Amino acid sequence: MANISRTYREACFFRELKMPTGTMSNTSVHFSSQKMDWKTPDAVYDLLNKEFMFDFDPCPSNPQFDGLDCEWGESNFVNPPYGREITKWMVKGFEEWKKGKTVVFLIASRTDTKWWHSYCMKATEIRFIKGRLKFKGATNPAPFPSAIVIFKGRLL
Ligand SMILES: C[S@@+](CC[C@H](N)C(=O)[O-])C[C@H]1O[C@@H](n2cnc3c(N)ncnc32)[C@H](O)[C@@H]1O
Repeated sequence: MANISRTYREACFFRELKMPTGTMSNTSVHFSSQKMDWKTPDAVYDLLNKEFMFDFDPCPSNPQFDGLDCEWGESNFVNPPYGREITKWMVKGFEEWKKGKTVVFLIASRTDTKWWHSYCMKATEIRFIKGRLKFKGATNPAPFPSAIVIFKGRLL
C-alpha cells in the first residue's frame, strides 16, 4: 500500500463514499457553533474504519470520560464538538500523534482559522469532501464543508 499514490487512494476513498451529500440548501442555520454534536454518518465512519481500524473515539456521543484528559488509543477517530473548543481537540490530537498514534479528524473545513493553519496543515494528509455531508439524524446537508484530516502514526 505504501507505493499507492495519495491521489489514487483519495480517489478510491471518494468513490467508495457513496452517501448522500448535497449543496447548501438549508440557510436557516449558518454557523456550526449553533450545534455542537454533528454525528458522523455511518458510511463515512465505516469507510474510514475499514482503512484505519480505529480502537478509540475520544469524543463519543455519550462520553463517560474526558477525552481531552485521557490517553488515546493507537488509532483514533475524532469528530470533535464544534465551536470554540475545537482548538483544544486539535492540540490534544496533535500531542497524541507525536506519541506515535494515528489520529483521524472529521472536521469542518475552516481553512481560514488559526487552528487549521497551526495543526491541520501539519497533517499527513487532508481529504476535502466534495459537497456537504448529511450528518446522522440531520434532515439537511450541513451548512459547512467538511474534511478528513489524517495524522498517520507509527503503525501505518
Ligand atoms: C460532534 S459529536 C461526535 C459524536 C460521535 N463521536 C460521532 O462522531 O458521531 C462530539 C461529541 O463529543 C462529546 N464531548 C464533548 N466534550 C467532551 C469531552 N471533554 N470528552 C469526551 N467527549 C466529549 C459530546 O458529547 C459530543 O457527543
